[in-house]
Amino acid sequence: MARTSLIVSSQRVLYSLLSLLLLSLVPTQSAPEAALITQIPGFNGTLPSKHYSGYVTIDESHGRNLFYYFIESERKPSEDPVVLWLNGGPGCSSFDGFVYEHGPFNFEAAKTEGGLPQLHLNPYSWSKVSSILYLDSPAGVGFSYSKNKSDYITGDLKTASDSHTFLLKWFELYPEFLSNPFFISGESYAGVYVPTLASEVVKGIDAAVQPKLNFKGYLVGNGVTDEDMDGNALVPFAHGMGLISDDLFEEITEECNGNYYKPNSDTCENKLAKVDQAINGLNIYDILEPCYHGTDSLKISTVTSNLPPSFRKLGETERPLAVRKRMFGRAWPLRAPVRDGLVPTWPQLMNSESVPCTDDEVATSWLNNAALRKAIHAEDDSVIPSWELCTDNIRFYHDAGSMIKYHKNLTSRGYRALIYSGDHDMLVPFTGSEAWTRSVGYKVVDEWRPWTSNGQIAGYTQGYENNLTFSNHKAGHTVPEYKPQEALDMYSRFLAGQPQ
Ligand SMILES: *[C@@H]1O[C@H](CO)[C@@H](O)[C@H](O)[C@H]1NC(C)=O
Ligand SMILES: *[C@@H]1O[C@H](CO)[C@@H](O)[C@H](O)[C@H]1NC(C)=O
Ligand SMILES: *[C@@H]1O[C@H](CO)[C@@H](O)[C@H](O)[C@H]1NC(C)=O
Ligand SMILES: *[C@@H]1O[C@H](CO)[C@@H](O)[C@H](O)[C@H]1NC(C)=O
Repeated sequence: MARTSLIVSSQRVLYSLLSLLLLSLVPTQSAPEAALITQIPGFNGTLPSKHYSGYVTIDESHGRNLFYYFIESERKPSEDPVVLWLNGGPGCSSFDGFVYEHGPFNFEAAKTEGGLPQLHLNPYSWSKVSSILYLDSPAGVGFSYSKNKSDYITGDLKTASDSHTFLLKWFELYPEFLSNPFFISGESYAGVYVPTLASEVVKGIDAAVQPKLNFKGYLVGNGVTDEDMDGNALVPFAHGMGLISDDLFEEITEECNGNYYKPNSDTCENKLAKVDQAINGLNIYDILEPCYHGTDSLKISTVTSNLPPSFRKLGETERPLAVRKRMFGRAWPLRAPVRDGLVPTWPQLMNSESVPCTDDEVATSWLNNAALRKAIHAEDDSVIPSWELCTDNIRFYHDAGSMIKYHKNLTSRGYRALIYSGDHDMLVPFTGSEAWTRSVGYKVVDEWRPWTSNGQIAGYTQGYENNLTFSNHKAGHTVPEYKPQEALDMYSRFLAGQPQ
């Protein structure tokens, strides 16, 4: 016995010595200096907090590398939440959110040809109240890439698993943020990315995967969720918004039996064609806003026949420095909600040659500037010839089915969820998000009511048990782009665990 305990205790001594040795070998646990951004072409001021960016290799043998841009909170980075942001597409870079929605800068288009845009601080940046991590995902999108092109055939499940690997490796690089509350957020097709990734994160926590992520909840804006719910949302939206007549609505209700997107008879199909006619000329991203461009030059490839000509147009925004006249690449055709199987990316839907105007100019010129690429540690044009807001590099398959089962799982496990909608978006209409959140079947704990921002009604909200909240905004598809101040209020309240 004595011998055994001697061995045990000498082993203990050995372990302690070993760990002391290891501790002294490990450098100070802090963010990698090489990723620190020291200057940003286009911006002359002082950054209010630290910015980091670079690649995380998630698969060594393939050379698969995901690009991130991380902004420390401008308030209290040691305590404020860390939030991951994902744009959708599939195929769209999360620099969309960075440049046009809630990033640290407002961009003023260059006055000279080929010049850099001028950057000003954005008073409504989400970095005011949180640290925020913009991730280009999956590989092949934005600045993320793989040396093995077979990686560009992908789908929901692989994307979620890759993003989870990214997160584990990222937190190993930035261990000082492991104890901060962690949230996942995104918009549009990220309505699929967010819950599938959250589910991977939770499975990892359950399996004691290290490092342990302090995951608390998630936000989804105008998010793709469920084929039936999203597919059936358009007709009630068009009726409620005054885009189709009471008569047509009654006829459709009768002919189509409540199935508004998979017509089950010719009469139903004919009625739905009338809806298409009625809404064709509208700006799909915000029905209140005008369309800027002529429709005659848009040629739609054979993937769809129902794409309305207004599809690629965007109206005005209240951002102080509005730079984008059109929005491009986050969508799929009306009445063809995301179904299982191949989801065409925007460039795959459209004949790019036939698109007359350059688009998303500010982001495209800034992110393709060699000095900027160098400053943010992105690969140069020998590896990524051109940064595109939305790419057709990838072939993307929807293979995770409906998101409702994910939302049920996550919220019943105590993870908080905010499902928000710009209520003038016709692409993923609020009617679908409102209906599916209700269909989960949770008890209402905060009955439908207006919520306010800056002393005005900003939208309406309904709170359910298990911290599931639905909230709408008087805005288009990308809420923070149209309503930056209100969106920051919504975001801050949610992160703080307060009601809308
Ligand atoms: C930044 O500095 C450059 C060079 O001094 C100048 O041309 C530019 O106008 C400045 N931009 C801003 C936003 O002040
Ligand atoms: C790329 O990855 C696939 C799948 O893992 C593999 O079969 C193939 O050999 C790889 N190609 C190269 C050039 O490494
Ligand atoms: C939901 O949770 C159950 C039980 O933990 C699990 O078996 C199932 O795979 C989960 N489903 C999803 C979609 O996460
Ligand atoms: C809802 O969220 C709050 C704030 O994080 C938390 O205290 C509470 O336990 C959560 N409720 C449920 C039912 O998960």
